[in-house]
Amino acid sequence: MQPSTIAIDGPAASGKSTIAAALATKLGYLYFDTGVMYRAATWAALDRGVAISDEAAVTQLTEALQIDVKPPSINDGRQYDVLCDGVDVTWEIRSPEVDANVSPVAVYPGVRSALTAQQRRIGLRGNVVMVGRDIGTVVLPEAPLKIYLDASAEERALRRYREVQARGDQSQTYEDILENVKRRDAIDSGRTTAPLKAAADAIILNSTGLSIAEVVAQVEELIARRSA
Ligand code: CDP
Repeated sequence: MQPSTIAIDGPAASGKSTIAAALATKLGYLYFDTGVMYRAATWAALDRGVAISDEAAVTQLTEALQIDVKPPSINDGRQYDVLCDGVDVTWEIRSPEVDANVSPVAVYPGVRSALTAQQRRIGLRGNVVMVGRDIGTVVLPEAPLKIYLDASAEERALRRYREVQARGDQSQTYEDILENVKRRDAIDSGRTTAPLKAAADAIILNSTGLSIAEVVAQVEELIARRSA
């Protein structure tokens, strides 16, 4: 039987979203990127002038926030629409300000439990490829197929730099992005609640030097083996 839930975790900009979206399309599954929810909560805190260091206020805001992920309404390179209390924030959640503040927000246990509960509900419906940092360990520990996607920090930063450039955003240099990627990895791996790590039963794939198509092919082979 083909695994009905696929968990993909890994560090910043490791290609998780691209690989997961391609896989989901091939399998006819829902693709759900949990990073969007942490980014939306961070965007809302910045937008409303809530201090990122104010754990209680950020948690309260997150608990009250309505985050929706819907099929893309505009053909501008987006994978989906992200709505925060009805406002389209699809590109706003990719800003350097959100990049700089999202990992500190994702440390807060109250923020995590509010978002994890929603993610688990979506995941338990099955036929889903879910992407994040703690999907295989916390959100869907029963997932029959778990992948931990890694690559060198330099390659990950280069991929993200190219994405940002392709969007026409000239505000960040490669070095800015490399620094942000390394800083987020350190915070995400070092936190006490649901740190970034491979689940004991995850398959670790290092995509350094591999194309998207090559990584997707490797995951498909794993699925075929599990389904046999
Ligand atoms: O796409 P990229 O790898 O840059 O990041 P993302 O997946 O959009 O996640 C943004 C941030 O959200 C991460 O750096 C984590 O701090 C947090 N996150 C998390 O803590 N747990 C998740 N399941 C997903 C994201």
